[in-house]
Amino acid sequence: MSTAPAIAPVTPLDTRPEWQALCTHAEKVRTLHLRDLFRDDPKRGDELAIEALDLHFDYSKQRVTRETLQMLLALAKACGVEARRDAMFRGDKINVAENRAVLHVALRAPKGTVIKVDGKDVVPEVHQVLDAMSAFADRVRSGEWKGHTGKRIRTVINIGIGGSDLGPAMAWDALKPWAQQGLECRFVSNVDENDFFENTKDLDPAETLFIISSKTFTTLETMANAHTARAWSLKAFGGDEKSVAKHFAAVSTALDEVRKFGIDPANMFGFWDWVGGRYSMDSAIGLSTMIAVGPQGFRDMLAGFHEMDEHFRTTPLERNMPALMGLVGLWNNQFLGCDTLAVLPYCQYLDRFSAYLQQLEMESNGKHVQLDGQHVRWQTCPVVWGQPGTNGQHAFYQMIHQGTKIVPCDFIAFAESLHNLGDHQDLLTANVLAQSEALAFGKTQKEIEGEGVPAWLAPHKVMEGNRPSTTILGRKLSPRMLGRLVALYEHKVFTMGAIWGVNSFDQWGVELGKVLAKRIIPELGGKAAELKHDGSTNALIRRYRAWRGR
Ligand code: F6P
Repeated sequence: MSTAPAIAPVTPLDTRPEWQALCTHAEKVRTLHLRDLFRDDPKRGDELAIEALDLHFDYSKQRVTRETLQMLLALAKACGVEARRDAMFRGDKINVAENRAVLHVALRAPKGTVIKVDGKDVVPEVHQVLDAMSAFADRVRSGEWKGHTGKRIRTVINIGIGGSDLGPAMAWDALKPWAQQGLECRFVSNVDENDFFENTKDLDPAETLFIISSKTFTTLETMANAHTARAWSLKAFGGDEKSVAKHFAAVSTALDEVRKFGIDPANMFGFWDWVGGRYSMDSAIGLSTMIAVGPQGFRDMLAGFHEMDEHFRTTPLERNMPALMGLVGLWNNQFLGCDTLAVLPYCQYLDRFSAYLQQLEMESNGKHVQLDGQHVRWQTCPVVWGQPGTNGQHAFYQMIHQGTKIVPCDFIAFAESLHNLGDHQDLLTANVLAQSEALAFGKTQKEIEGEGVPAWLAPHKVMEGNRPSTTILGRKLSPRMLGRLVALYEHKVFTMGAIWGVNSFDQWGVELGKVLAKRIIPELGGKAAELKHDGSTNALIRRYRAWRGR
């Protein structure tokens, strides 16, 4: 039995005067339209925006007044966001439920920075691992690393799930223009065998390198896929166990488990318990990213992360991009009653960005108790979703424009294109700007009738507007820019979690499902004499068994 850590009681948010003042204030702001806000405050388009790190962060189309922002900032200060931020950067064990530091920021700290956990500076180890990864990545990229039969590696398959998959998979898509030609990365995450099958059916095992990425090296899906990969690979080499060393690497915190699996510890890249899974794409979990874009590209990405870390750490909250993003998100979620957030990148390379953010945000802040275990009486994490524009415009935007639910949107776009194929970039940019304009200002019945639309049709064409959005306009996508964007969201999530008083760094909610699945596995095989689940689950197991002839 572990002894209970000393956790300070958390002042419930709804007892804070700043919160109560916002509740009253929200009654007034809810009746205001963005048309009025822009009319009454003509400078807000320029002034409710932040310029930093080649990003123009425009939150003027959010349904906030300047007074709202002051009140939200006062709430953030009262909740100790800055003190908690400083505690994270200092290496304090702010993940109290797991008694761990939260130091993804150390993964991108430049050499020479000192960040201590239990009195030990962790930055030198971070750089040792980066150097080891770089040497390995260079060997694979140059072809010096040979497979069992002497062929060079053409495909790298990352096997992992959750934080050990989503970040590297997102980065592979995002950074394709920087990837080495002739070297492809693929990702197998689902325990559904279709995933493994489809990702390997056209591959030559002699040219394939598997990276088994798992912090714990016990995750059911990853271990099942890893064993299947081992069998697939060994079969091609006549069962020669020596081939494993040439075709398998591991990224993990669990050296013993890696050894047990049979991977040469020389091909293992470590990280630490102070790196949460969903905050790990810039650790050794990003090995596939480094192999794709090269050590320099990876270090550029880390530099981008670090720049945003520094912005978050040192900029007053009033001009702090992640902090303001978090405050606006909290306002929409709690005070305007918006349950979701659509993240809409106008950049095809960010195809998987929203999926990545789903874990980052929802696994972090999808919590119902404060740090001290008290149940919250306020809303926490929104549902995060989205996909790249302009495709989404022809799918779900109708609902965002005219539906009965208010969906705040984050639009992400870049000024410069990566390829010059005519006027696509202008068309893309015109679309993203048009969407946020239409959402904010809409079109009134009067305007529509003024265009000669008959009265019976006009109501169908009314766009009420007053739909909030933030536009994040970057100069150009690059590894560095990707790092900045991911860190922007990491720290936004941090800010929101700090105000809600939840632990953004544990994830107990996913455990029960894992435990129950382990119990059901033998039952599907027909071995359990008696099923002791609820009536529905029992019936489903019996139907499955019958259809499988068991
Ligand atoms: O889904 C729960 C979770 O623990 C995530 O937090 C984590 O990213 C994922 O599983 C994978 O865990 P591991 O890296 O240990 O295989």
